[in-house]
Amino acid sequence: MEKALDELIIPQHVALILDGNGRWAKKRGLPRTAGHKQGCVTVEKTVEDAARLGIRYLTVYGFSTENWKRSAEEVGALMQLFRYYLKRLLKIAKANNVRVKMIGDRTRFDRDIIEGINRLENETADNTGMTFVIAVNYGGRDEITRAVRHMIKDAADGKLDGESVTEQTVASYLDTAGIPDPDLLIRTSGEIRLSNYLLWQLAYSEIYITDCLWPDFNRDELIKAIEQYNNRDRRFGGAKA
Ligand code: IPE
Ligand code: IPE
Ligand code: MG
Repeated sequence: MEKALDELIIPQHVALILDGNGRWAKKRGLPRTAGHKQGCVTVEKTVEDAARLGIRYLTVYGFSTENWKRSAEEVGALMQLFRYYLKRLLKIAKANNVRVKMIGDRTRFDRDIIEGINRLENETADNTGMTFVIAVNYGGRDEITRAVRHMIKDAADGKLDGESVTEQTVASYLDTAGIPDPDLLIRTSGEIRLSNYLLWQLAYSEIYITDCLWPDFNRDELIKAIEQYNNRDRRFGGAKA
């Protein structure tokens, strides 16, 4: 039975794989980039909806380390959209008391985009509402590889003792250091795979897949996912009494 919204447990951290922009556009006879544009509008709305629902952390997958394989035209259009939204996001984040953080390897982006990312993070760092995490040029394996490199360097510099490394130490070297693991992963457009997303962090997240294409995603879809989450029995490897 459906519960009233105020009876639902709101997951602290929701991770999203926003997928299906290309298919959304194709269905309408539009170029793939039109799907990405509409997808950005949906991201904006979702940030506001999630913050109002009381979600504390929302992490969205915007561009993967594998997405560079797409045509130069599509990658170029995505970079242009990213440029534009970095500016818009600054306004939206300020208006909604949202703190923005980017994860992924930003060094591969153009100078002005890197500056835009740094500015967005710095100027929203003291906001106390939801934390909106954007994964760009992000890959779970790349993140873990960079963390390992960093740990080896710190060990060589005498700052880290290999014998005392715990799971917490590893987590502290990831891009998501300080951010709790996602409680709920939502993937749109029906694909049932992780596509290199948050491989370490999703170890015990509940997974919800919807056929809804990302540009069509909305507050009702988000609530449906939260309702499903409320029906899950999270055991974390333990046994029921
Ligand atoms: C998700 O939509 C956005 C990005 C990966 C940048 P897609 O572009 O993957 O859309 P489909 O999967 O081709 O429909
Ligand atoms: C995952 O979607 C990456 C992002 C949403 C940014 P993809 O569309 O790239 O994933 P695959 O290729 O279907 O696995
Ligand atoms: Mg896709």
